[in-house]
Amino acid sequence: MSSPTTIVLITGANKGIGFAIAGLLAKEHDGYHILLGSRNSERGRKAAESLQREGLSVEALTIDVTADESIAAAVRTVELKFGRLDVLINNAGVALDIGKDIVTTRAMFEETFATNLFGPAAVTEAFIPLLEQSTAARIVFVTSDLASLTMRADPQGRDNHVAAPAYRSSKSALNMLALGYAHRFRDRGWKVNMDNPGFTPTDMTGGRGTRTLEDSARNAVRLATLGQDGPTGTYSEREGPLPW
Ligand SMILES: NC(=O)c1ccc[n+]([C@@H]2O[C@H](COP(=O)([O-])OP(=O)(O)OC[C@H]3O[C@@H](n4cnc5c(N)ncnc54)[C@H](OP(=O)(O)O)[C@@H]3O)[C@@H](O)[C@H]2O)c1
Repeated sequence: MSSPTTIVLITGANKGIGFAIAGLLAKEHDGYHILLGSRNSERGRKAAESLQREGLSVEALTIDVTADESIAAAVRTVELKFGRLDVLINNAGVALDIGKDIVTTRAMFEETFATNLFGPAAVTEAFIPLLEQSTAARIVFVTSDLASLTMRADPQGRDNHVAAPAYRSSKSALNMLALGYAHRFRDRGWKVNMDNPGFTPTDMTGGRGTRTLEDSARNAVRLATLGQDGPTGTYSEREGPLPW
């Protein structure tokens, strides 16, 4: 491996939007080395190998965002190999109540929040010591336009036909979590931002969507590679800022 300058971890990157972010970032940014996070080692290895075959600087890293011991093992691996982390992309997520006409249950809320909120919180906290070793730390939270309270409060708001109370509220809470990190590390120059990839055909949507995987990855890649003059604490999609 050539000496990488920027170490990036993307959670849930063995498929879908995370995989697309990994490919686009490695393809378009020399010197970026991608740790392709996957909760399943075999799926991660296969996904990483498919990008390695394209000559990209990618390796698999096993990390289940709902399991503290898995997160701790991932931190140890990154510390031993690289001694720091430059970019963390919290992408792993589930949408258990989207497209399903079912009564929301406590179990569904618990599982949704475990992955979409408690997961990114635990992962981010665990990697802070390694992000502190970076000269230009960046954190991207992959959220959703369905997180927007402003759009939800507008009767004519975008996607207001989508109920998804567990998914929506987990992503609204994720935005609040992300803003906390933006405030906490603002004076240190960290760039902590929120990305809506947009409606994209992945397993999460049953293959439905209105944009390509590459288009869905574009804004996360922009936020992951912001310069020191870039913004922090923003909520955006490829087309521009989103209302909170
Ligand atoms: N697709 C859309 O239209 C859309 C729109 C807005 C926002 N988003 C957001 O974009 C992100 C990626 O979604 P996607 O559409 O690419 O979905 P996807 O194809 O279902 O991929 C989700 C990824 O998250 C991983 N994951 C789930 N639970 C995990 C856990 N406990 N630990 C580690 N990884 C876990 C999955 O791993 P496995 O393969 O092991 O299941 C998979 O790699 C999510 O945060 C989603 O909310 C998607």
